[in-house]
Amino acid sequence: MTTEKRNILVTSALPYANGPIHIGHLVEYLQTDIWVRFQKMRGHTCYYVCADDAHGTPIMLRAELEDITPESLIARVGAEHQRDFARFGIAFDNYHSTHSPENKDIAELIYQRLRDGGHIARRTITQAYDPVKNLFLPDRFLRGTCPHCGAEDQYGDSCESCSRTYSPNDLLNPVSALSGATPEQRESEHLFFKLGHFEQMLKNWLADNELQSGVVNKLNEWFEAGLQDWDISREAPYFGFEIPGEIGKYFYVWLDAPIGYLASFKNLCDKQGIDFDAYVGVESTAEMYHFIGKDIMYFHTLFWPAMLHGAQFRVPTNVFVHGFLTVDGQKMSKSRGTFVTADTYLEHLNPEYLRYYFAAKLAPAIEDIDLNLGDFQNKVNADLVGKVVNIASRCAGFIEKRFDGTLSETFDEPAIVDEFKALAARIAECYEARDFARAMREIMTLADSANQYIDKRKPWIVAKHADSDRELHQICTTGIALFRILLIYLKPVLPVMAAAVEEFLNCAPLVWGDVDDDIAGRRINKFKPLMQRVETDKVEAMIEASKNQDAISTQQSAAKSKDSNFITIEDFAKIDLRVAKVLEASAVEGADKLLQLKLEVGDEIRTVFAGIKRAYQPDSLIGRHVIVVANLQPRKMRFGLSEGMVLAAGSGGDDLFLLSPDPGALSGMQAK
Ligand code: MSP
Ligand code: ZN
Repeated sequence: MTTEKRNILVTSALPYANGPIHIGHLVEYLQTDIWVRFQKMRGHTCYYVCADDAHGTPIMLRAELEDITPESLIARVGAEHQRDFARFGIAFDNYHSTHSPENKDIAELIYQRLRDGGHIARRTITQAYDPVKNLFLPDRFLRGTCPHCGAEDQYGDSCESCSRTYSPNDLLNPVSALSGATPEQRESEHLFFKLGHFEQMLKNWLADNELQSGVVNKLNEWFEAGLQDWDISREAPYFGFEIPGEIGKYFYVWLDAPIGYLASFKNLCDKQGIDFDAYVGVESTAEMYHFIGKDIMYFHTLFWPAMLHGAQFRVPTNVFVHGFLTVDGQKMSKSRGTFVTADTYLEHLNPEYLRYYFAAKLAPAIEDIDLNLGDFQNKVNADLVGKVVNIASRCAGFIEKRFDGTLSETFDEPAIVDEFKALAARIAECYEARDFARAMREIMTLADSANQYIDKRKPWIVAKHADSDRELHQICTTGIALFRILLIYLKPVLPVMAAAVEEFLNCAPLVWGDVDDDIAGRRINKFKPLMQRVETDKVEAMIEASKNQDAISTQQSAAKSKDSNFITIEDFAKIDLRVAKVLEASAVEGADKLLQLKLEVGDEIRTVFAGIKRAYQPDSLIGRHVIVVANLQPRKMRFGLSEGMVLAAGSGGDDLFLLSPDPGALSGMQAK
């Protein structure tokens, strides 16, 4: 075991602040978290930082769609992300945002150093411009006919039908996906990062560090193709940081996103008095690792080391790249219900199941990993419930009932305990190399031996013999000792179970070195069930709940407020209910469920869209009195502005009834 103490800074990619965390993301955050927990258990100083990636056009447009400011969108989504990560046991030392003062400062500093070093060029380019929305269109907001195969309705840069890529300028019959308008070609001046200046530096970086072979191959391909200048500016309107010394130009989101790693770490350093430069300065002797998915390799293995070097920061020690998650062999899909959000997963299943399953699948190569739902259930049940937990539950009862919760002074079979200890170094190597799959196999082989040992010694039979107390005591103590070692090995993967075991064993938080501890004669606590089996109906319910979930699911969960099913009286008092009269009612073209109502609310006339078409004929509503929420924030819909909400209720089935005022009171009102 290494005794030398290491200083390590670790990051996971920063999730975009416009959508929920899903099980695909979790491959990465769980992989990183397991590795970091392992390093900490080994006694190293290891900081794990992350942040929300809060800038860019999609976030700006999403906020516009929801009729809120980008700031309030990123605040809400950031909080949801942190809640989901915490519930999966992902233990960041700091979670920040790229829309932060630290990030602005460091982005400006890096840019200025690159500019002063002669690494920024400027050039006028022609780009698609949406004349209705008044903005330059990113490629993904352009749709048109593929210039290669003629498939219609394809993205601006690549065709889903023939898989070929092209320049947005070659797309035929282009339209803006935002407004449907035909885009204009407009010129504007952009700033470029001269990546080519760093070719030799990048080749040295590649030679000096042990990158994965898949990364080395990709880098060599890219060197061969030639390193292109990188467009780092965007024109207003843009949600991001304005570029110092320029007017109406913003840093492209991908410029300040990786800088967010440093910003989040800076924020942590300021809070805890850590020496920032000791980790990120050129002279740093600390290690710095970025965990990322294979889709964002170009940014992390070319632009990012080059930017850091050009701006006099240290370069990464390594970039650890993982593959993509598939579910039952296919891409995650909303229609199949395999696009499972972290939140939906947690409504149905224990997060430690997924932590273990991913660990059992994750190897150091850049290969996709498959979540096979049947295999998931079998593996978790067989390995964790059937093998690991079983060891403790077979021994704990006797210790509690027959020996007053105290372990014996000696083992029944010390050799097997030594065998378990002897594997510490090999399992540690697997963790270090991110070969979690291999680590889990080694651990499960040990779990098998522990169960075989118990099968062989049969404590339940020994317990029936007279004068066999000492033997029974030693057998069960040996079983508990083996179980304890297994839990140390599993702790990076199963922190919640490990905490429950620490409580059961009545011990301080376990670290790697505790493998060698002697537990003879200790008192332990009552054993409580550690993990339930994965049930088929729960898995099915999770898939069902994920089917065709609205893309706006974060918005729904904002409204759902899962943390509590109650609203307070103060919440309720905010609602301004009024009686209104329906003046006009009509169906809305292109909407299956909506009726457009014109309402007389006091002295005002308001338009409200109500989802009551299946229950009411428009004509039957004219002249009727209804109840409206008069102070609901007006909402921009595809069909127009909705200025309130008409109250309707049902019994929970398919029925729907509009609420109406008591007729007695009405007569009074009409008389006015
Ligand atoms: N915001 C950028 C990263 C900026 S880092 C300076 C981004 N965000 S993301 O939300 O799209 O993805 C975050 C991470 O999750 C990426 O590393 C990405 O590869 C990973 N994954 C997203 N979907 C995934 C799967 N389906 N499977 C495995 N990893 C996936 O990219
Ligand atoms: Zn095509």
